Amino acid sequence: MSNLFGRLGFGHRDVALRPARTGDAEALARLHAAAFRVGWDSAEFERLIANRLTRTQVATDGPGGKMLGFILLSGVSPEIEILSIAVDRTARGRGIGLRLVETAFGMLAAEGFTTVFLEVEEGNAPAVKLYARTGFREIGRRQGYYRSETGTTVGAITMRRDIA
Ligand SMILES: CC(C)(COP(=O)(O)OP(=O)(O)OC[C@H]1O[C@@H](n2cnc3c(N)ncnc32)[C@H](O)[C@@H]1OP(=O)(O)O)[C@@H](O)C(=O)NCCC(=O)NCCS
Repeated sequence: MSNLFGRLGFGHRDVALRPARTGDAEALARLHAAAFRVGWDSAEFERLIANRLTRTQVATDGPGGKMLGFILLSGVSPEIEILSIAVDRTARGRGIGLRLVETAFGMLAAEGFTTVFLEVEEGNAPAVKLYARTGFREIGRRQGYYRSETGTTVGAITMRRDIA
């Protein structure tokens, strides 16, 4: 159990969740660039938010506050894939990732989606833990799927969760 005090809300404002809007693109790009080796710029996020196949939820520090995290999914009903999820370094371990995934599931179930897929880098312990905790199960491995900073390749774990 990580950071019990954080989870109980001590010392933090309430985290608010809502769908992303076009004006979020810059904050999303900053958060993404800080979390991943290859960042997506704000123009890319604007395109993604406008795309009818994507669903994006953002977590903020209270309504209208600083962006603390996001989850971005894309797919055609009944199947959808988590393309990206990230939480600001300073806000990790407070259950925000968990809330983003669970909120997305609720939204997807209401829309008739039944299955969520994802790929996660082998060795990304926080993400693997988050996905196991939210009911994802490994369904396969892809060797050499990612390239590390040093140029070596790293495998991916493919995971699935049924939400129907
Ligand atoms: C993965 C990530 C989104 C998790 O967000 P978070 O808000 O810190 O996660 P939560 O606080 O909701 O924790 C969810 C579960 O993961 C576990 N977890 C979180 N950080 C962990 C860590 N550093 N090591 C091990 N487990 C960890 C938690 O313990 C919790 O499980 P528990 O309830 O059984 O204790 C965050 O670490 C992140 O942004 N990482 C960089 C981007 C990334 O790798 N995204 C995934 C790409 S596939």
